[in-house]
Amino acid sequence: MKISVVGCGKVGSAVAYTALLKGLTDDIVLVDASCDKARGEALDILQCRAFAPQAKVRQGEMPDTAGSDIVIITAGIPRKADEPRVLLLSRNAALIGDIARKAVQYSPNCILFMITNPLDVMTQLAFKVSGLPRERVIGMGTVLDTSRYRSCLARDFGADARDIDAYVIGEHGETMVPVTTGINVRGIPLEQWPGFCPETLERTVKEVIAASGQVIALKGGTVFAPAASACAVLEALVRDSNAVLPVCTFQEDLGVCVSLPTIVNRAGAKQVLSLPISADEASRFAKSVDNIRTYVKDLAEYL
Ligand code: LAC
Repeated sequence: MKISVVGCGKVGSAVAYTALLKGLTDDIVLVDASCDKARGEALDILQCRAFAPQAKVRQGEMPDTAGSDIVIITAGIPRKADEPRVLLLSRNAALIGDIARKAVQYSPNCILFMITNPLDVMTQLAFKVSGLPRERVIGMGTVLDTSRYRSCLARDFGADARDIDAYVIGEHGETMVPVTTGINVRGIPLEQWPGFCPETLERTVKEVIAASGQVIALKGGTVFAPAASACAVLEALVRDSNAVLPVCTFQEDLGVCVSLPTIVNRAGAKQVLSLPISADEASRFAKSVDNIRTYVKDLAEYL
């Protein structure tokens, strides 16, 4: 399985490192505007091999990504703590459009996996310029926010985060919708969980929406949660697992790329599922879609 990572900043290099440790690939090409940076990350990861699954890891340029099964795009300017992700659109769109076109030129059968912000809009840009079928252009989307949501719920209610069934849907941004309808812990409704408190849940929902900014303010950028979330998607793709993950893909009926629970396997984002949500959550999801739609209009000059 050949995976290329385009953009070897903190997130891109952490994704490559995590994918190697999890044995998700035996062939990694690292591409970056700075060859030395990519070369340094490749060398650093290669030096783990005495204690990690074996894989080829090397710096390359876009032609070296040829024949990739998955091309991960993390290149671009990251956001600052108090900066909405969508402000990055004009700074990242031209770069991402160029990378997506080249990725598909060298790997026409690849899956494009998008991580660059503003995520939903960059995923739509990649979908439009690549010409790939919708299931093969996947944004990490609210998989990351869902990881944060489950982690916070586990902390607040004393559960194992891996037992918690809860989703964030919508924009990977300020209008994301942490769904409270149907949250359960291994089938036990959260409302019946020992120590459940609706006020705590309300606080958790607010915390998740602000979680990224909290980390960025403290350490300058988010790295490990994005890398772990990205590798959860990679694992479903590589292992052909049919995992259900709220990835961001193009929704024909909505006309935008947005995150919804989706069956993910080796073919890509195979099927979007209908999650039972309340009327209020449906209304907030609709607003989230409208917010993405507002910014998608700005893509015209990059298509
Ligand atoms: C975050 C960035 C990756 O949510 O958007 O951490």
